[in-house]
This record gives sequence, C-alpha cells and structure tokens, in this order.
Amino acid sequence: LTRERYSARRLPFSVVSEDDLAALERIVPGGVITDPEELEAPNVDWLRTVRGSSKVLLRPRTSQEAAHILRYCHERNLAVSPQGGNTGMVGGSTPVFDEIIVSTALMNQIISFHNVSGVLVCQAGCVLEELSQYVEERGFVMPLDLGAKGSCHIGGNVATNAGGLRFLRYGSLRGTVLGLEVVLADGTILNCLTSLRKDNTGYDLKQLFIGSEGTLGVITAVSILCPPKPSAVNVAFLGCPGFAEVLQTFCTCRGMLGEILSAFEFMDAECMKLVGRHLRLACPVQESPFYVLIETSGSGAGHDAEKLGGFLEQVLGSGLVTDGTLAVDQRRAKMLWALRERITEALSRDGYVYKYDLSLPLDRLYDLVSDLRARLGLHAKHVVGYGHLGDGNLHLNVTAEAFSPSLLGTLEPYVYEWVARQRGSVSAEHGLGFKKKDVLGYSKPPEALQLMRQLKALLDPKGILNPYKTLPTRT
Ligand code: FAD
Ligand code: MLT
Ligand code: ZN
Repeated sequence: LTRERYSARRLPFSVVSEDDLAALERIVPGGVITDPEELEAPNVDWLRTVRGSSKVLLRPRTSQEAAHILRYCHERNLAVSPQGGNTGMVGGSTPVFDEIIVSTALMNQIISFHNVSGVLVCQAGCVLEELSQYVEERGFVMPLDLGAKGSCHIGGNVATNAGGLRFLRYGSLRGTVLGLEVVLADGTILNCLTSLRKDNTGYDLKQLFIGSEGTLGVITAVSILCPPKPSAVNVAFLGCPGFAEVLQTFCTCRGMLGEILSAFEFMDAECMKLVGRHLRLACPVQESPFYVLIETSGSGAGHDAEKLGGFLEQVLGSGLVTDGTLAVDQRRAKMLWALRERITEALSRDGYVYKYDLSLPLDRLYDLVSDLRARLGLHAKHVVGYGHLGDGNLHLNVTAEAFSPSLLGTLEPYVYEWVARQRGSVSAEHGLGFKKKDVLGYSKPPEALQLMRQLKALLDPKGILNPYKTLPTRT
C-alpha cells in the first residue's frame, strides 16, 4: 500500500539483529512479539491505506520498561513507532519501514482517581471507553468522547490531541490534560504528572507532547480533569432544508440553549444514505438535505426539557428545521448518536476513502463540499460532508471504487489551496502523521516549520521517534 502511493526513503537506522531481540527480551520479558501473523494488524492502519513492514512489536507494562526500550534503541540507533489503539486517521501509528512498534496495550492501569476534584491519573494504554465507564460509576465523565472510544488509548488521544464529540463543551485536551509522564528519545523519564489545576512554574512542557504524534516522546501516563456527570442529557436529531438553515439553527441554539448545549454535529444527505446502505441504520426523520444532532447536558431535567422545547418550537416554526425527533431514553439517544458516530465506518465500507479534516470559517464550511461534488462529477462515488460544526471542523470525505492517482491529483493540492485561501487548517483534529506531513506548510509559516524542526532535533537528535511523520520530508 505505502510504496505505490507515497514516496519515502528509509533513513540509515540500524536493522534489528538477533542480539537486539535477546536484549529486548531481557528488558520486556514475554513482551517481544515477532510472530508475522501477530504483526500483520499493527503494520496496517485503520483505514487500510498504509502498511509498514515491522518485524518486532514490544509491549512494555511499566514506564521503566518503556524507558529501557528507548534507552536501548537510542544507543543502537533503532527507529521506533509508538502505537496505541491504531485508530488514527493519518497513518501516524503504523511503521513506514521496519521501525520497532512500541505498543501501550499492556500499560492499562488506573493509577488514581480523586472523587472530589475529578482528577484521573492513568497509564497511557487505558482504553477510552473503559476510562469512561470507570469515571461514570463515580459520578464523572471523561472530557472527550469519539467514535473510536472502544479501541483508542488515552495516550493516543493525547498524542493526537483528539477533538471529538465533547470538544464544544469541555474544550481541547490542551486544557483538560493537567500532567503527563513522557519517556524521551534517550530513555529519560520526564515526570510532569501533576494533578494541579494551576501551575505557572516555567514553560508548560506537557503542551509539547500533546498533539506531537509520537515524534517527541512516548507518553506513558496521563493526568486528566474529568467534569461531573451531567444528570440530564437530551439528544435531538433534526432535518434542515439547506446549509444556511443549519448555520441559523446553530446561532439560535447557542442563543437559546447556551449553557446546556454540549454538542452540535452535522451530516449531509449523502452521509445518511451511506449509513443506511452499509450499516442498515434508518433515518429517524423526514429525508432532508442536512441533518443536525444536538445534545444538551445539564443538572435539571425539567429546566433543560423546557428550554429544549422552546428551542424546537422556534426552529420548527420558523422553517429552519423541517422535521425532528427527541430521544426519550438512553437507548434512543445512543441510536441517534450512532447515525453520526458511525459515518466513518460506513465510508470505509463504501470503497477507498480520501479523507480531509479541515477547520474553516463557519459561513464557508460547506462550500468546498458542493464545489468538489461538481468538480469531480462521476469520478467519485460519493462526496460527503459531516463533522463538528460547533467547532468549525468539517470532515470532507470522497469515496471511490479504488485508489486512483488521477482522482488524487484532482483533489490535491486543490483542497489544500482552497483551505489556505480561507486561512483554515488542513488538519483540525486528526494530526498529520505520515499521510499529511507534507501539507503542513498550507497552514503554518516557514518560521513555524523551522522552529518545529529545531524542537525535534533538540528532543530527538537521532530522529528515532516516529521518523517520516508529522514534519515535512526534506527535499
Ligand atoms: P494510534 O492510532 O495508535 O496513534 C495515533 C498517533 O499517536 C500516532 O502518531 C502514534 O505514533 C501516536 N501515539 C499513540 N500512542 C502514543 C503514546 N503513548 N505516546 C506517544 N505517541 C503515541 N479523532 C478525533 O480527533 N476526533 C474524532 O471524533 C475521532 N473519531 C474517530 C472515529 C473513528 C471511528 C476512528 C477510527 C478514529 C477517530 N478519530 C477521531 C481519530 C483519532 O486520532 C483516534 O481515534 C485517536 O485519538 C487515536 O488514538 P489511538 O490510541 O488509536 O492512537
Ligand atoms: C469523526 O468525527 O467522525 C472522526 O473524526 C472520524 C472521521 O473524520 O471520519
Ligand atoms: Zn471528527
């Protein structure tokens, strides 16, 4: 997969020898995987668009083991690719060549939870959904949620600075992550695992590692602030006649639901068609060009229901919304959420997916989708738009029967130039990984790229951590 679509040249790292395997076995007894069958899945990304050829996967259980691995690899000039749940969308978590995969799968222990402050401290390999369950049993929620919750690891979430479905309410991980423990390229353990809300003692080093996609250090533990679990949660699913009405509904929603609004997601009719066709999920409202999912989270069921009722009356009465449904119980709320959360899965069943994750000014957010639909005509199977509208984040996806260099040539750099003209971002929440590293320059000036390179050289002078990722290839 990788070689035909992306050009990359192996850098002169060492090749893992029998002696290395023996040494690594002493560092992580029982945690060295070399069975080709077991290595198949971790060498391929979730979207099945890139494939590495790693012959070794390591599963440390402790930060000390992870540190020993890095110290050894640094010494021996062996390249490393950190991996969590392998759900990333940009080919960041799979090796490009024969890098050693360092998996956090066995680093899955909760270290502490404070039931007054809501601060959770855990190892990096804890699965997001399991953490959610744990804190919900104690009256709290995780500040992030995403469709990949059943597989993704909290360390992977932090390493990608994942946004997701609760961003509108609880903000970025840059705010909710209070501390990190990170193993640096040479094996040094950097313990900044504080649980403090306020801490202005020098530079905020953890921010360097949030969103650094495994290129600056391996995150081994996370301290994260969990908000109290809202006692009243409502989900509404609405049909809108046009994108202008979606935007108007958003404005009305912010005005009328303000403090209880916790999600505002949108999807177009093509997305609905695909979740219907590939996942057999039924559209719960009258067919419409656009659909909106609104979630409210508050502490007073009666108060929230009254507010939501007033809002629905307003948007239905004014024609901004043509039809709508309200979840009356948790099961129904989950069903409505599935329509939005499972679009990614439906798309991947539709064929090869060209995926763009963009930040754009709200009033231009859907223009690119319409523009491309006209531009691509029958060359694409589907051109769809969905995403976290409340955060100005569009997911533009194009599907085709198979990968085609000519379709790619029509999409790129066209999409990136379009986004750059709007001063948008070419990666809103997925990161750059391997597949998007060369488009960083569309969203950042050369001086920023230069400083990023200097930081990389400072923290990882041998370049062993996730090489070929995030920073553009030097030409
Ligand atoms: P991986 O995929 O294993 O790794 C991702 C990157 O982080 C790689 O570069 C890897 O090297 C690095 N990494 C992993 N663990 C560590 C570590 N411990 N230390 C250092 N580096 C590490 N993303 C969003 O932002 N919002 C969404 O709503 C969203 N929804 C998704 C829905 C689905 C169905 C899927 C499949 C993906 C979705 N994603 C979303 C993509 C998202 O990036 C990942 O799901 C998640 O954040 C990655 O976690 P992971 O454990 O799978 O990391
Ligand atoms: C989502 O919001 O569904 C995710 O970011 C995954 C995707 O973009 O497909
Ligand atoms: Zn998303």
